[in-house]
Amino acid sequence: MKNLKLKKTEKTLIITINRPDELNALNSALINELDDVFSNNRDDNNISSVIITGAGSKSFVAGADIKEMANFSSSAAAAYSSHGIELFNNIESYSKPVIAAINGYALGGGLELALSCHIRYISKNAILGLPEVSLGLIPGFGGTQRLRSIVGLGIAIEMITSAKHINSDEALRIGLANKICNDVLEESLLLCQKISLNSPMAIKTAIQSIILGKNANYYDSFDIENNLFSQLFTSSDTKEGIDAFLEKRKPKFKN
Ligand code: CAA
Repeated sequence: MKNLKLKKTEKTLIITINRPDELNALNSALINELDDVFSNNRDDNNISSVIITGAGSKSFVAGADIKEMANFSSSAAAAYSSHGIELFNNIESYSKPVIAAINGYALGGGLELALSCHIRYISKNAILGLPEVSLGLIPGFGGTQRLRSIVGLGIAIEMITSAKHINSDEALRIGLANKICNDVLEESLLLCQKISLNSPMAIKTAIQSIILGKNANYYDSFDIENNLFSQLFTSSDTKEGIDAFLEKRKPKFKN
């Protein structure tokens, strides 16, 4: 792939956004490539989690490619935005945990990509923000909705209308980041190792319950959880997990 580097460790797929000269800005070709990766590996039982990071030490992703947007008509902007929204929805509903390993700038579309990931680990030098209004734009890859649901209405409106950049301490304080890391990739891989010990079927079901429930009516969300919980009792993984506990041994999950 031209704009992505892919690497599989034991059970983790590492996707590196690879346009370091443009601080890994997202252009249409790159969005197509990410789309392919998330469509093709959806049911890959050999991976239990995914890490997305940026090439170089300066930037995760500095936003959508401003040069590419310069001559957009309104209809081209609509197609571009809906393609990004569709991809980021696919990432959010992915069946395995997706970790954004944020190594520097995560701005505009870059922060929107990170917001669609399930977990955000950030480096000490990370700078996060949705600065689109400073370009006369608004976030167009789902950022107005996802930032609000993660940090709340007040902080989302403050960040988006001021276009301000926030540092790693502030990002952690407002719940935008899970953790500040000395080595963001190494610590993400350690988390992936822990994830890989658990039942892939239960992990997939937990993500489904959280994401479907997030978008449902409050009381309907408990029905979603109840249905998914009960479905697991038809799976051999659940039997294996409970048997292993009762027999005081480590489980061998098969998915
Ligand atoms: N698009 C295209 N190119 C970009 C870019 C972007 N989003 N961000 C950086 N680059 C390019 C620069 O143009 C520059 O290229 P040249 O060497 O060819 O001039 C190169 O990357 C290095 O950038 P800088 O020289 O600007 O580096 P810096 O260290 O001085 O500043 C920065 C770093 C603060 C991140 C600055 O580059 C910046 O503000 N970038 C834009 C951030 C932004 O506004 N993102 C939102 C984009 S709009 C969007 O994302 C819409 C949406 O929701 C869909």
